[in-house]
Amino acid sequence: MNAQAKGLLDWASEQHRFCVRAMLRAVSATALVKHRLALGQTIRPARGSILASPAMAAYDPKPDYFFHWLRDSAIVADALRQAIEDGTLESSAIEHLVDFVDFSLKLCQLDGPTFLRQGGYPEAIEPSFREHVRSREEIGEIAGDRVLGEGRYNADGSLDVLRWGRPQNDGPALRALAVMHFFTLDAFRVRAGEPAMTLLRYDLDYTLSHWRARCCDLWEEAIGFHYHTRLVQQAALETGADFLTAEGDADRARACAAAASDLLTELDRHFDAQDGFYRGRLAETGPSAPPVRRLDIAVVLAAIHAGRRAGTHSVVDPKMLATLFALERLFDEKYSINRARPADCAPALGRYASDSYFSGGAYYFSTLGAAQFYFLLARAAAEGAEVLVTKESRAPLAELLQTPAASLTQGALVGGLRETLAEAALDRGDMYLATVRRFTPASRELSEQFSQHDGAPDSADNLTWSYASFVTALAARRRAARTMEKGRES
Ligand code: NOJ
Ligand code: NOJ
Repeated sequence: MNAQAKGLLDWASEQHRFCVRAMLRAVSATALVKHRLALGQTIRPARGSILASPAMAAYDPKPDYFFHWLRDSAIVADALRQAIEDGTLESSAIEHLVDFVDFSLKLCQLDGPTFLRQGGYPEAIEPSFREHVRSREEIGEIAGDRVLGEGRYNADGSLDVLRWGRPQNDGPALRALAVMHFFTLDAFRVRAGEPAMTLLRYDLDYTLSHWRARCCDLWEEAIGFHYHTRLVQQAALETGADFLTAEGDADRARACAAAASDLLTELDRHFDAQDGFYRGRLAETGPSAPPVRRLDIAVVLAAIHAGRRAGTHSVVDPKMLATLFALERLFDEKYSINRARPADCAPALGRYASDSYFSGGAYYFSTLGAAQFYFLLARAAAEGAEVLVTKESRAPLAELLQTPAASLTQGALVGGLRETLAEAALDRGDMYLATVRRFTPASRELSEQFSQHDGAPDSADNLTWSYASFVTALAARRRAARTMEKGRES
């Protein structure tokens, strides 16, 4: 290994440890107190809650992320599980997962009418702030399983009274996936297997009864059918079916398996043959259809969150590879920080073209998501997963393998080329890590965005999801490197 590569890996190991500790600051942050003056609200985080960011901000101008988001918390909990598995956290950290399950179960039992009856609705709202607050009627309608679509909650376990993009249906699916992964830890199973199964049933039931419905996307902006939501739902239902079968819950298992199979067909419809990539949102027509959005990093994040190991909608899907390549080109051209970058750096990535949230800039979780994607691809290739050369994947594979496109014949990549692909994908993932290193401040703290013009931190400070995405990307790198090592030995 050359000095440059070693320097990057040493930095990444240090940053990994830092990120694990930084994540923990948002978990069960019971010592923090948040005052929302405009609402006359005081929030003390409960045990098991996970803040999207522990930073105190109130759109002054940084955003107030002092909430337990379903999506963010599931991603963070899964990263904690990985840190326990690889020994970065000692096994006593399993208590965080147990607390997370307990807290999540309490959220599932919330309902609007009770919340109103118990005086949860703020009495003293600043008049200028009223437009941001949900009506009592809207809160009163949160009944039955509706509460699982809330998207986010106060970290003290109460309903969020602020207007927001709802319902969001990716959260329960992501939480189901995270909880199923917890079961691989024996100590967790012994300690909290039963409540975890109860939570899993809530999340699978919600997903079963809502996957056919439009919802708000993970960017909390548009109602429609979203690739990310659907793929994580698909994965949760498919894996959930196996889980339920093992539990003897055959009927529910069958229903999950059937829905998972239908969702695969739905996901295929997101492919735009003309553009040659998956669309983040299904194109719809009609007066209430949201405007068409072509490329969205949500598709790539979906592949890593869902964790399918082979076949369509996995990291080896040729159409998925084409989507990532198109995104790389898009942000490469769009962001000035990507111009004249060092040769060992990949482009910094954002969410989608013409994003206007804060500086609409680069995101750590997008850039690290690409790194993780390539590490997963490296591992899949090293394990012998079928990688197909098709119309869509020919150019991306040729670029990765540094070979003329014409030399790649249609069909599965064979032996030697697959090994070369594993190496190339690992290198490409490292180029994304190098980019993240380039834009990580000396303090090692990761915000949500970094400016597309000068790389300065932007939007929320200390975004827990940014830390989680570093942790999961590095874990994927280590697994890929191990698999490749084993392949060389045998
Ligand atoms: C728009 C942003 O794009 C989205 O990600 C954010 O969560 C919502 N606004 C809420 O402010
Ligand atoms: C904005 C992102 O768009 C959304 O996905 C996330 O849940 C929130 N920030 C909180 O981190």
